Amino acid sequence: MNTISISRRNFAQLLSAAAAATLVRPAISFAKSTEHVAANAGIVRLSANENAYGPSPKALQAMTDSFGLACRYPDEHNNVLIEKLATLNAVNHDQILLGDGSGEILKLCAETFTGPQNGKLVAADPTFEAILNNATANGAEVVKVPLTSTFAHDLPKMLAAAKGGLIYVCNPNNPTASTTPKNELREFIANTPRETMILVDEAYFHYADSLEYESVIPLVKDHPNLIVSRTFSKIYGMAGLRCGYGVAQKETVERMRVQQMWDSVNCMALAAATASLDDPDHVPNGQRLNSEAKAFTTSELDKMGYKQIPSQANFIMFDCKRPVVPIIKAMKERNVSVGRLFPALPNHMRVTIGKKSEMETFLSAFRQTTA
Ligand SMILES: Cc1ncc(COP(=O)(O)O)c(C=O)c1O
Repeated sequence: MNTISISRRNFAQLLSAAAAATLVRPAISFAKSTEHVAANAGIVRLSANENAYGPSPKALQAMTDSFGLACRYPDEHNNVLIEKLATLNAVNHDQILLGDGSGEILKLCAETFTGPQNGKLVAADPTFEAILNNATANGAEVVKVPLTSTFAHDLPKMLAAAKGGLIYVCNPNNPTASTTPKNELREFIANTPRETMILVDEAYFHYADSLEYESVIPLVKDHPNLIVSRTFSKIYGMAGLRCGYGVAQKETVERMRVQQMWDSVNCMALAAATASLDDPDHVPNGQRLNSEAKAFTTSELDKMGYKQIPSQANFIMFDCKRPVVPIIKAMKERNVSVGRLFPALPNHMRVTIGKKSEMETFLSAFRQTTA
């Protein structure tokens, strides 16, 4: 009896110690993170194509409600998100592969489909470079094919350059924010031999509103060599949480899955992603806010005589009419962080569309650096 009451008391002490630790630990790390934010407080960050408005309130609530799950492996929570994504994209659940950001899907594609045994990677120039690095690290030859004069992928040249291996099509393309017309993409997918894999990266899908643009997810059912990647980092505002996915035929998903680390998506990211999909307002709100801030920025740049590549994304790229590197540096000195140099377009600057107030700060700094 006594023993039981003692152990109960000990247990209660343990519980309160654990509770205290729970309270203290987030406070410490929160303090650290707020210090970090404070150190960067004056910086307007328009360099990484993030979403300045953050995740859906439903996602934030879902994460708060999931704190208690942090001690469990994510197992069944993967399945909940996979089911939702399968329904959303009208595919079977075994056609969805979750990733620790869509960057993991890109890496898995490079590891599975390029390299000394599988063949080279063919990509546009310029494009999102991560997969080029992954393929190089995997021992693959990387072939870069310049974009066309309208900043579309030069699909006939890319196809001619490929033999087995993988062709990477980023649509909309980062860093140019341009798209490749849907008819050209459909024809290219139809003409690509089965032994050459195609990855279409649709990270910025939700921001594209051109009638010439479409997702190729509906084509996956007819093409065993097609993979499409999507992310929760952009319109869903979850870049720091890390969640993305690939859509492909079951056999293709299985080939990639064996290369993947188990449980690579954490339970907070799963909770937030699942809840985001239940928020019918989040995507349209994000699209509207991005369009408004983008229209404001592009009209101001127009007035200043700076020509932009028509943007179908949450960033723009424009011709600074002189080398961009010194301007990037001068902008940084004014606490505005913009995109890095893309060597194929040395006079072009990539700028993420943030909130209107951030774009006002950007424009004022840009005016000063180019005055
Ligand atoms: C075109 C493109 N694909 C993939 C990614 C990777 O995104 P994440 O790993 O955050 O999903 C990015 C990130 O900026 C991107 O621009």
